Amino acid sequence: MGEELIRAVNLEKEYPSAGDAVVPVLKSINFAINSGEFVAIMGHSGSGKSTLMNVLGCLDTPTRGHYFLTGQDTATMSSNRLAELRNRVIGFVFQGFNLLPRISIRDNVALPLLYADASRAKRRKQATAMLAQVGLEGYGDRLPSQLSGGQQQRVAIARALVTNPKLILADEPTGNLDSQTSEEIMTLFRDLNVERGITVVLVTHEPDIALYSQRLIRIKDGQIAEDGPTRELLAIPG
Ligand SMILES: Nc1ncnc2c1ncn2[C@@H]1O[C@H](COP(=O)(O)OP(=O)(O)O)[C@@H](O)[C@H]1O
Ligand SMILES: [Mg+2]
Repeated sequence: MGEELIRAVNLEKEYPSAGDAVVPVLKSINFAINSGEFVAIMGHSGSGKSTLMNVLGCLDTPTRGHYFLTGQDTATMSSNRLAELRNRVIGFVFQGFNLLPRISIRDNVALPLLYADASRAKRRKQATAMLAQVGLEGYGDRLPSQLSGGQQQRVAIARALVTNPKLILADEPTGNLDSQTSEEIMTLFRDLNVERGITVVLVTHEPDIALYSQRLIRIKDGQIAEDGPTRELLAIPG
């Protein structure tokens, strides 16, 4: 196991409600994730999983507490530096694929490289190579709508990988896929974790999907209810 990649310290998040009231969504969350781990986050709908993922991905800031990414306290960083760190370290995969519908698959994959200062030719070349890595060689010129859901999620994974991130954050990435396609996508995540050492943190509500991870964090009402080896917590023998 590698160095510490993520640390949440007394992390809290609340949202404004009617009048002066607030709704506490995350309540004193503490955990760390090391480089090389494959972690599943489970919990009921509304328990705060996406809110937590957004903080881990620096897409949102905690109300109180600290969030350290690669050892750096994100609370002390300017929004520019935070965006730069996020683009360098993290790749995102979402349930709804989030591809731009009017541009080609290749251009979708190349999009994160716009921030990375690469020439157009280099961006195209890297995107094409990345598509091949997720099993979509020759698909570059198609539009997202010309692909199946599973293929679109592969495109989203290629887009997440194109900047060579240390960490993939995936919020219910198989939520819109049938079980066969879900297994294929999970096999891809596992390969990225095992063969390339990419840290994967993935939200799911399906135990079958969580079983691809080594560690399970269960969130209940905005708090960590359980944190341990996935197979133990899911009571799988062996
Ligand atoms: N931007 C927001 N403003 C107000 N409330 C929010 C916002 N985002 C999420 N919530 C609330 O926070 C709670 C947790 O939401 P979320 O993190 O999306 O849960 P999960 O992903 O586990 O289903 C829910 O009650 C939700 O309504
Ligand atoms: Mg959610």
